[in-house]
Amino acid sequence: MSLAEKFGTFSECWAPRIVARYEGHEVRIARLEGAFDWHAHDHDELFLVVEGTLTIEMRDRIEILGEGELIVIPAGTEHRPVADAGEVKALLIDPAHSPNTGNTFMLTQPIDDEAATCANGMTIGFKCNSPEQVKELHDVAVANGATSIEGPPGPRDAGALGTMHLSYFRDLDGHKICGIHREA
Ligand code: NI
Repeated sequence: MSLAEKFGTFSECWAPRIVARYEGHEVRIARLEGAFDWHAHDHDELFLVVEGTLTIEMRDRIEILGEGELIVIPAGTEHRPVADAGEVKALLIDPAHSPNTGNTFMLTQPIDDEAATCANGMTIGFKCNSPEQVKELHDVAVANGATSIEGPPGPRDAGALGTMHLSYFRDLDGHKICGIHREA
C-alpha cells in the first residue's frame, strides 16, 4: 500500500487511522501537530516518523525523531509526543483496540498555583464499551446533580467515522463531560 495515499485521505491531527492489521496488532498512521497529552500504555508502542520531526518527551529523557527514525516506548512509560516544528506524519503499531491515549486519566493541581477552573472549549471524554454504558454514565451523573446538555444520549451519524453513541453533561464544577462509544 502507499502510505502517502493513505495520508491523503484525512487531515485531522491526533486521529489515527488503521491501515493494516497483523497478529492482533494495528498499524496506524496519524498526523500530529502541537503537543499531545501525557499518557502511558500497558503495552509497548512503536512510533515511526514518516515525515517531519517528532519529539517524544518522557519523564526522564527526551528523544527527537527525524524522518525514518523509530522508537519503541516500553509499556508503562509515561510519554508525550510533541510536534512543535510543523506537522508530523507518523506510523504507530499498537495492540488492536487499544486507545491511542492509553488508560491514564490525570487530574492534577494547576502547576501555575492559580485556581483550578473548567477550561472553556475543553471536553473530557470517556470511552465507553457500549451504547448502554454511554447512557448509564450520563444518567448516573445527572442523578447526582450533573446537568444534561446537548440533547439526550443517543446515536449520531459521524460521517466516515460511522455511528457514534454520545452523551454530554456538565458536572457540578461546570466541566463538560462526554461519554462516547464508536461502533466497530
Ligand atoms: Ni502513546
